[in-house]
Amino acid sequence: MTNDGQSAHRFSIGENLRFREHPSGLTVGQVATEHCVGEFFVQGAHVTRYQPKYESHPILFLSEESQFEPGKPIRGGIPICFPWFSAHPSDPSLPAHGWARISSWELVSSQRVEDDIQIEFQFFHEPFELGYIVRFGKMFRAGFSVTNTSAKLQSFELALHTYFQISDIASVRIEGDLRSCPFLDQLTANEFQPEYKAITFEKETDRIYEGKASEIRLIDSGWKRTIHINSEGSESTIVWNPWIEKSKRMKDFGDEEYLKMCCIETGNVRRRAVAIAPGETHTTSLKIRSY
Ligand code: BG6
Repeated sequence: MTNDGQSAHRFSIGENLRFREHPSGLTVGQVATEHCVGEFFVQGAHVTRYQPKYESHPILFLSEESQFEPGKPIRGGIPICFPWFSAHPSDPSLPAHGWARISSWELVSSQRVEDDIQIEFQFFHEPFELGYIVRFGKMFRAGFSVTNTSAKLQSFELALHTYFQISDIASVRIEGDLRSCPFLDQLTANEFQPEYKAITFEKETDRIYEGKASEIRLIDSGWKRTIHINSEGSESTIVWNPWIEKSKRMKDFGDEEYLKMCCIETGNVRRRAVAIAPGETHTTSLKIRSY
């Protein structure tokens, strides 16, 4: 088991937080509290599971075909896209969605906060100091912060690329603040004015909604549940489902899995990329709960 060569076990909290070695050699943290179960990989500070006790289905989708390999992205959960989103703007040989999701982060602390388990990660990569705090409880919370450690202005994109598990793609709709946001269709590069209606999925969907959308609901009529997604410090929301052909092209994703997931990603990309002055910190945070 590795955590940059050190054991993660010292961050264990009895029955509530344990560490194990995944068959890939990656280090996995497993959370079990009175209110929820959760899981994360130290690589990428990547949360792969969250399920409150009262829920009969996981909140986060994790592909059965995901590769778990050092230096490779995990397909599902909440990958952290940083410092660019999608392909690198000028060098296509660089990893899609940036290096944060495939880097070895460090565990900094773990603690009980009220009935919850909170874990803090960090990662330094000039000119950035990254911090990520996740809290597993009746709700899931995440806070991603970026500090500019250089002497000049730095800009970046970021996304907490959340994969949600759903009953069936035909049974979900997205309601809330996205109704009134314009969006870019990444598949055609066309821009659209707000549609003032719920988002549903009938084909491959890859959209960047622009503007604050701090209150979003993923309504799943199949499982009769609503997932509430609340954010701060986010001015872009990406809505993605690969549909049939793209699912077949993705090696780490089952051909039929597009039926069981959709991504609603909280971040700041494209025109809403963030620029911060020397010493400044930007934070994007997220709360997920279902009822
Ligand atoms: C989404 C993008 O955020 O991530 C899609 O909008 C992309 O264009 C998807 O296909 C998955 O990306 P990746 O690099 O994890 O395969």
